[in-house]
Amino acid sequence: MSKIIELKNISKIYNRGSETVHAVKDITFTLNKGDYVSVMGPSGSGKTTLLNIMGCLDKPSNGSIFINDTETSDLQERDLVNIRKENIGFVFQQFFLIPTLTVKQNVQLPVLFAKKKIDDKKARELLELVGLGKRMEHLPSQLSGGEMQRVAIARSLINDPPILLADEPTGNLDTKNANNIMSLFERLNSKGLTVIIVTHNPELVKHCTKVVHIEDGQIKN
Ligand SMILES: Nc1ncnc2c1ncn2[C@@H]1O[C@H](COP(=O)(O)OP(=O)(O)OP(=O)(O)O)[C@@H](O)[C@H]1O
Ligand SMILES: [Mg+2]
Repeated sequence: MSKIIELKNISKIYNRGSETVHAVKDITFTLNKGDYVSVMGPSGSGKTTLLNIMGCLDKPSNGSIFINDTETSDLQERDLVNIRKENIGFVFQQFFLIPTLTVKQNVQLPVLFAKKKIDDKKARELLELVGLGKRMEHLPSQLSGGEMQRVAIARSLINDPPILLADEPTGNLDTKNANNIMSLFERLNSKGLTVIIVTHNPELVKHCTKVVHIEDGQIKN
């Protein structure tokens, strides 16, 4: 199996006034292409910090990260932007949809930001994939929470990233919608996408190839 993300001795220290917070302590692991990973652990244990570091949204204080064999820990922001654009889709607990844009336009937003040609077909395909083929011209306010999250997932995939990072993607959803989103992630993973999800949902663990348990910034497996 080929490696897709490698973390070597990753630590993150935040300075909060005179206090230092050791959010992640010496974490090392490797994820392979096609992995379906859940990151679990109590509130404040370092899950979001770790995910943001894996997604090159935040830099580690120590250690190195490789995304598809490129070491990213020393790169400048302008190079990180490209690494993110080519490799990583993000999904968050909040959906971050633009209320004045239609569902389809929201999905196309990353293409617009990348100043690339808008490909209508791609957005349509993704919206059909997430079961919203008939809602493309609607506004976010006309959708349920679960539907909004599916729009956010379609948007995260518009640049064809090989990796999807999701931080408590079902945190704002009821059980039915949460299960729906989880089976969507499974389906995407079965098509080859590497999926990494921060979740408190023990149900998900059954379907995962790896579970990363974090406590107090350290892996406890
Ligand atoms: N920007 C920051 N500045 C200072 N401390 C921070 C910052 N971000 C996170 N922390 C601290 O780092 C630790 C880990 O936070 P993190 O957000 O990674 O936890 P988490 O596991 O995602 O928690 P939750 O389940 O509540 O989302 C916490 O003690 C938090 O207060
Ligand atoms: Mg968090």
